[in-house]
Amino acid sequence: MARAQLDTQTTAVGALLEVVGAGLGVPCLDGVERPYVDLDCAASTPSSVAVAAAVADFLPRYSSVHRGAGFKSRAATEAYEAARSRALRYAGREGGTDTAIICRNTTEALNHLAYRLRLERDDVVLTTVLEHHANLLPWARYAQRRYVECGADGTFGVDDVVAGLDAAPAPKVLAVTGASNVTGWLPPVEELCAAAHARGIPVVLDAAQLAPHRPIPAGRGGADGPDFVAWSGHKMYAPFGAGVLVGPAAAFADGEPFLAGGGAVELVDLDEVLWSEPPEREEAGSPNVVGAVALGAAADELSGIGWEAISRHEAVLADRLRRGLAAIDGVRLLGPPPGTETLAVATFTVDGMHHGLVAARLAAEFGIGVRHGCFCAHPYLLRLLGIGPDGVAAARAGALRGDRRHIPGAVRASAGLATTLGDVDALLGALEAVISGTPSPVRYVQDTATGDFFPATTAGWWAFSSGVGGGCARS
Ligand code: ALA
Repeated sequence: MARAQLDTQTTAVGALLEVVGAGLGVPCLDGVERPYVDLDCAASTPSSVAVAAAVADFLPRYSSVHRGAGFKSRAATEAYEAARSRALRYAGREGGTDTAIICRNTTEALNHLAYRLRLERDDVVLTTVLEHHANLLPWARYAQRRYVECGADGTFGVDDVVAGLDAAPAPKVLAVTGASNVTGWLPPVEELCAAAHARGIPVVLDAAQLAPHRPIPAGRGGADGPDFVAWSGHKMYAPFGAGVLVGPAAAFADGEPFLAGGGAVELVDLDEVLWSEPPEREEAGSPNVVGAVALGAAADELSGIGWEAISRHEAVLADRLRRGLAAIDGVRLLGPPPGTETLAVATFTVDGMHHGLVAARLAAEFGIGVRHGCFCAHPYLLRLLGIGPDGVAAARAGALRGDRRHIPGAVRASAGLATTLGDVDALLGALEAVISGTPSPVRYVQDTATGDFFPATTAGWWAFSSGVGGGCARS
């Protein structure tokens, strides 16, 4: 690879956000402890220092919400409702008729919504092959799915979506991601919303990957925005178990809530129930108050940093990452070519080397954390890899036998606001070393049940994780 060429492009890019655990030491196979290089931010981010401080500050006042007369319960209720308002503000939807339902994560939010839209079995939901499973599987439970296909570069055009919107029967909903968790590609959400709304079709935005990186289109200032939005705290520096579903309160005003139980009701008799108004109607059971407080703090912190600074930071990292990978002989970058605007996320394969082995060597020899496998977006990854029905059938047959060694996959490096150019360069350098034949200090063995590779030693941190897959073959 042309390292010198890459180095001339260097702009000093440091961390934009202070996170808990930055620089954590990782004992590597050669006995050297290296600072952890976290390039797995698309899966989950660490807590920011400010979010952790907000949680610590809140904990002395933690109590039940909406169901206590004491000081702590009142204070906790106020903090919880303030977090809800922050989430609405983050989505650009405060002060109107929208509501924010606090849930566990994007997956729960989209399952919740798919149930609440009261679709009929024959209704069509238009979605895309780029979606991660949270925006594919819930719709299958209630309706028929029609898919927008992608090209070999993993993108689609507005026209492709318009064709799906115009096909008969007309879809009831367009459900689309705001940013791919695999390639980092950013579909033109505002244009898609405009096309759907021109046909009277509501839009659901899976903002799990978008929310920490770009503003959520709010449908203001002449632009169009989604009707429903879902995102997760664990991908935006608030990994305390809360996510959110934002949408018009009216959509939740009638019908059975997703979960039935206390907190969602006005009055219960043995044979009847009077449900409360949204959002409480949709939040049965004691909610995750700490998670909500963390989510609200993260929303405020990211807004405070500002989208301009965030996009600038990411643009430099994305460029360095994607061009750097594409320049290494033996690496195949999946998705759109470098130069296309994407998040700082890159998925790649290495010629002649199993994705699991690449990830294991980066982890155990260099202290670099990446993800490998299909990234909970199997249909998209199979397309990017060019694997057809025979390959899928072989992988399925293997998985059914409990042999996951040949499940297709790739390696993904994903940066966040605490990532530096040095982190990206560490990955590029480590990959060059691995690909150029630098021998590993010990042999690696592949576990048949998970498909993962582990150093063939009994000591070390990798020993405790053997037997539990790090890829997504078992998920
Ligand atoms: N959490 C999944 C990821 O790693 C979807 O992208």
